[in-house]
Amino acid sequence: MRSSTSTRSWATALVAAAAVAATTTVGVTPHASYSSSIGVLGCKVNTNRIAYWPMDVDCNNICVSLSYGGRQVYLLRIDQSGGAHDVSYDAWNYLITGKSATADPTAGGSIDMETENVDASKCAGLISTSGSKLPLSAANSMNFLNSCLVQQAAGNESWVAANYVLYNILDPICTYGYNEVCTLTDWPDQNQATCPHQLGDPVALTSQPVYNIEYPTGEKVLAGAPASAATTTTPNTANAAANHACRSMFQCQSLLFWVLSMGAIMHSFLGSL
Ligand SMILES: *[C@@H]1O[C@H](CO)[C@@H](O)[C@H](O)[C@H]1NC(C)=O
Repeated sequence: MRSSTSTRSWATALVAAAAVAATTTVGVTPHASYSSSIGVLGCKVNTNRIAYWPMDVDCNNICVSLSYGGRQVYLLRIDQSGGAHDVSYDAWNYLITGKSATADPTAGGSIDMETENVDASKCAGLISTSGSKLPLSAANSMNFLNSCLVQQAAGNESWVAANYVLYNILDPICTYGYNEVCTLTDWPDQNQATCPHQLGDPVALTSQPVYNIEYPTGEKVLAGAPASAATTTTPNTANAAANHACRSMFQCQSLLFWVLSMGAIMHSFLGSL
């Protein structure tokens, strides 16, 4: 009896250790402005459920689970932070209070929470494209997508390579381009997608708004619109809602995208001469 009991508790302890090994505890801070270093289009994902982790975004670990106080959310890990574990303000607020940041906005700093990488399918509900494919910018996500396609071509697992869709939208907050799907037909010979309109044409796009939830007011604001008085005040917590100025190429948007696009247009124009 004694020995079978101790065998069982030993087995239980092993199972518990395995479960613990998969999760890690991280200090989580709120993030107010949507961004994506790999060019995921905010108009086609739930920008209230994004993880901004310190490590590089990769082609497989796109979805993480985050738990605190008996509550749990899935988050798309599609941007890199400057060192903190940031999450969308709404997700942070929900985990702490059980309520959306728009309903009951809370302020504060880093809170220890449990996280683990989970299968990308768990984040399907956060993506609004057909088949929940990851929506990428045809003009500006090619470096990342190419790295994932190379992985797949080498016979390695690459969730992104098998589950992406390109749009002729230039920036993650969806303010330039056309809301149309593009295809990459001749990769790797050609690294440029084909779109119904010219690839990277920087026309104003107003039909695909992206909203942020302002910290700490909980107010819903159009991304890319001039900052209100609340966001121009520096929050008192280290990473809270910081507008990490130009942390990635996609955060120096508008002007940079326009410059890149004009460069691409001039390039193809000169190439056609
Ligand atoms: C494929 O996986 C192997 C083994 O992990 C690794 O050494 C190699 O660099 C990978 N190749 C690519 C192109 O990702």
